[in-house]
Amino acid sequence: MKGIVLAGGSGSRLYPITKVYSKQLVVIYDKPLIYYPISVLMLGGIKEILIISNKETIPLYRQLLGDGSHLGVRFEYVVQDAPNGIAEAFILGENFIGSDGVTLILGDNIFYGNLDFFYRALQQKKGATIFGYRVNDPERYGVVDFDKEGNALSIEEKPKQPKSNYAVPGLYVYDNNVVPIAKSITPSPRGELEITDVNNVYLKQKKLRVEKVGRGVAWLDTGTPEALLQASNFFGVIEDRQGLKVACLEEIAYLKKFISKESFTALVGSLPKSMYREYLEKIFQED
Ligand code: TTP
Repeated sequence: MKGIVLAGGSGSRLYPITKVYSKQLVVIYDKPLIYYPISVLMLGGIKEILIISNKETIPLYRQLLGDGSHLGVRFEYVVQDAPNGIAEAFILGENFIGSDGVTLILGDNIFYGNLDFFYRALQQKKGATIFGYRVNDPERYGVVDFDKEGNALSIEEKPKQPKSNYAVPGLYVYDNNVVPIAKSITPSPRGELEITDVNNVYLKQKKLRVEKVGRGVAWLDTGTPEALLQASNFFGVIEDRQGLKVACLEEIAYLKKFISKESFTALVGSLPKSMYREYLEKIFQED
């Protein structure tokens, strides 16, 4: 299974923060936003990760994340010339995906809590799995409607009158057919290759699973200044209470055994003296 983090976009709701670089570099409490979606892929055991963004931001991601070898993963980078839609990720990522399945996560989506719903989806070898998460404002998202047995009936992109409160979060697990499907769809009236159109092809073929995610999981999206502040406060509270960090990539690489004890010690030793480094030293001592 390969992973893609789609981390471009116009970020117009965050202007002027997004005048210089894409929003996934903004800070959520104590680390860049993009760490959070990358951490979800790594927790799922995905070690080959493609980061897609605009040409201004790709060099900054390279500086931030490198080739991933220090974390025991491989990061690749591809430029998206313009925000032509989420489904373009599979066209831009075709060579990277090769003959594998692929999980796509949007660079501004954060998941926190028990991720079993995601790990279960990764076990499926065929078809696609997307998720349904209850929100207050479904009209801002793709919205999924279920029958009494919990089967998905329809998915509508930003409907004016949503048929349910279940939004589709920016985390999608596909088999390799997603590449030809993404190539087969045409841009929507707003000029984007819509991920909802891809999901509707799977739905029509009866190859789409839509799993409801329980309320014990936090799904935050960080598209507005208010949402950024809320997410920062949320993780500030949790990290302070537990003394543990969320989405600390070095810690995850170590705990998932992507890197050895020796590599972890060397990595920590190479970091500047900081609270982040002290945290990692503490993790090592407690292990
Ligand atoms: P959106 O929320 O659709 O939009 P945006 O980030 O461009 O911001 P705004 O609505 O304020 O203009 O994007 C969701 C995520 O997907 C976000 O992380 C950006 C990313 N994205 C791309 O990288 N390329 C794209 O073509 C699109 C549509 C989104």
